[in-house]
Amino acid sequence: MQMSEAVDPAEIAKFERLASEWWDPNGAQAPLHAMQPVRLDYIRAQLVAEFGLDPRRRRALEGLRIVDIGCGGGLATEPMARMGAQAVGLDLSPGAISAAQTHAAAGGLAIDYRCASAAELAAELEDSQRFDVALALEVVEHAADPAALMREAASLLRPGGMLMVTTLNRTAKSFIAAIAVGEYAMRWLEPGTHEWRKFLPPDALAEAMRAAAVEPVDRIGFIYDPVGRRWSASETDLSINYAMVGVKRTDNTALGA
Ligand SMILES: C[S@@+](CC[C@H](N)C(=O)[O-])C[C@H]1O[C@@H](n2cnc3c(N)ncnc32)[C@H](O)[C@@H]1O
Repeated sequence: MQMSEAVDPAEIAKFERLASEWWDPNGAQAPLHAMQPVRLDYIRAQLVAEFGLDPRRRRALEGLRIVDIGCGGGLATEPMARMGAQAVGLDLSPGAISAAQTHAAAGGLAIDYRCASAAELAAELEDSQRFDVALALEVVEHAADPAALMREAASLLRPGGMLMVTTLNRTAKSFIAAIAVGEYAMRWLEPGTHEWRKFLPPDALAEAMRAAAVEPVDRIGFIYDPVGRRWSASETDLSINYAMVGVKRTDNTALGA
């Protein structure tokens, strides 16, 4: 078995305990369900622009091979498949993979779900099988080592492939919003879901991407309006939730390599 430096078994155990709730919009993963529209709009727009796809097509992602690292129950993997991509979902929680497989089968979606780390899949891929796109959505803040996760994600990509990350910034605001309010006051998430010290500022994420031979090309904030109960994208406010996308360098050189 290929060892992964990115994996924190205690984090995987947390998600394993909640595996039956992946598709309940009011359950343990309610914040991810609420964030879905804004993050999917952003992912779709970035992919359409990067790969010159037709945004008017319902199956706009047809022709792309996408791997969703830390896919959980497949909340983002499924929309990728519905938009026409050939999708692979990876997670180390057997319960999450089982929930993802059951849900995809019920919806008639052919998604290749595997209980494996990015490092394990990378070890078995030929160069010609590497992916056009790797997603790591809300996973960095649960990884043992974000830089290792970026390296493993990059190793799944073909040169010119796109890495898309969503995660949490390490600021006073993110402590208050994601932990004090989200977990302890409102109980949107189980208390203990997040450790603030594992949150990553955007510049540190960009550095980890560059060190993995991925050049960051865009970043955006996702902000929550508790009154209107809506998420929206912000070009300027990356203080709590944010997304960053990068493109794998074609010469395959990592910084310091
Ligand atoms: C907050 S959930 C996000 C799920 C999904 N990406 C989404 O946004 O809907 C984090 C998931 O990442 C998985 N995970 C954490 N660390 C991982 C790693 N190093 N490799 C693969 N999966 C990991 C967990 O088991 C969990 O299912």
